[in-house]
Amino acid sequence: MITKEYIKELKINGNGDLSELARNNLSNAGNLVSILKNLGHLPVNFDGKWLLELTNSRFSQVRELAVKNIAKLTQHEYLETLKKIIKTDTDTNVRREAVSAIGRMRNINNKKILIEILQDTDPKIVCQAIRGLLVFKNDEEINNSLKTLINHENEMIRTVIYKEYFAKEQKQESVLPHAKTYEYLKNVIVNGDVREILKNVPNESIHLTFTSPPYYNARDYSIYPSYEAYLSFLEQVFLETYRITKEGRFLIVNTSPIIIPRISRAHSSKRYPIPFDIHHYLMQMGWEFIDDIIWLKPEYSVKNRIGGFQQHRKPLAYKPNSVTEYLMVYRKQTEKLIDWNIHQYDYHTVEQSKVPEGYETTNVWKIDPKFDKIHSAVFPVELCKRVVEYYSFKGDLIFDPFAGSGTLGRTAKNLDRYFFLTEQEPTYFEYMKTFVRKEGLFNLFKEKPTLFLTLKEFKETII
Ligand SMILES: C[S@@+](CC[C@H](N)C(=O)[O-])C[C@H]1O[C@@H](n2cnc3c(N)ncnc32)[C@H](O)[C@@H]1O
Repeated sequence: MITKEYIKELKINGNGDLSELARNNLSNAGNLVSILKNLGHLPVNFDGKWLLELTNSRFSQVRELAVKNIAKLTQHEYLETLKKIIKTDTDTNVRREAVSAIGRMRNINNKKILIEILQDTDPKIVCQAIRGLLVFKNDEEINNSLKTLINHENEMIRTVIYKEYFAKEQKQESVLPHAKTYEYLKNVIVNGDVREILKNVPNESIHLTFTSPPYYNARDYSIYPSYEAYLSFLEQVFLETYRITKEGRFLIVNTSPIIIPRISRAHSSKRYPIPFDIHHYLMQMGWEFIDDIIWLKPEYSVKNRIGGFQQHRKPLAYKPNSVTEYLMVYRKQTEKLIDWNIHQYDYHTVEQSKVPEGYETTNVWKIDPKFDKIHSAVFPVELCKRVVEYYSFKGDLIFDPFAGSGTLGRTAKNLDRYFFLTEQEPTYFEYMKTFVRKEGLFNLFKEKPTLFLTLKEFKETII
């Protein structure tokens, strides 16, 4: 067996032993891969000629690894072979490794070759050439060639070029430091239409939004003239949410497809794929898609749809019980990495906000639904707890435009975050007050007591 130790030994003995081993295994892809994967660091005097031979192997993985090892040598004598591979190899990964190898040479004399590669039809190859060229950011010819890619057909390429050349010029600085927000938004619940309320909330003031929008005509509180009108309503809300969200922070939307029952036996029921339709709107607004989390409920807790099928078992009439909902995770567009967001907080806040042991490691969250006497669609506390812990820091401001019974607000407060909630229905607004009463005196001693405001009162608090 070809082990790492064995390869190491042969490397110490000199290059001859290694090349002989490779030549004896030319038709054994597995062994060649083991040799190439275990080569590790290559000394400056390493003779890579046998690696050149392997770039002609019929196994694409062998060719890729051979080029990867040639790249470690960063030597000019391999340039012609690398150029040939980029022009002729049929495997995109092999070609990409060859471009990477030229980039790793960090030789300005190779700029013409890399600029030429920017015309390649494979976006992965172009991205690799961009990477090689960005090393020479004070070369005018390189900068001019790269800037023209801002109109490239591929979105990844456009994003990279935007970040490198255009982002800084366009970014308007937020008034407040990233970790801070306005006092008059902290632990406030406003009764009214979220669209009206948000007109009074400044840009970049929210750290996290988690919400479950009203269902399309599925419950008494959500009557819209058409599905299109419903989607357009949500579009307005999430566009405003985008504006008030801080740079690079998250929006998590909990929805699931809904079913509108048939009006008679002569008609069929209709299913609306809400998460998939909203997704399209969110992407257009600039929300960047991050993750899809499945909320999995026990089968006994959901409506039984499979009953009819169980009787007749006729194909096409299969109707599974829907035990899932989506939590679609989005991030406000930014050229900055998540690390930038984290670095906006002081050491203690980051330490104290660390997610405790026992966190969920998969995107399937098994959580029992919560039933409530007053509100027909409340979040389970555990769902809110995970979202708050995984996507915010202590002291952040957390927003729910469709607060309902206010589960998110209470959970946020218990986890030392602030909340800002809006809710249209007076019944639910009043219902939320009862929770504060139950908390009793204790709540009064909390740093920021909960304020229940009408839109008019809210406007008056804004200084
Ligand atoms: C699915 S429920 C949210 C329940 C909430 N997650 C909870 O834990 O109780 C949606 C809520 O949005 C509210 N709503 C609907 N349209 C609204 C609007 N335009 N502005 C504010 N709230 C609205 C409804 O009254 C309803 O309580």
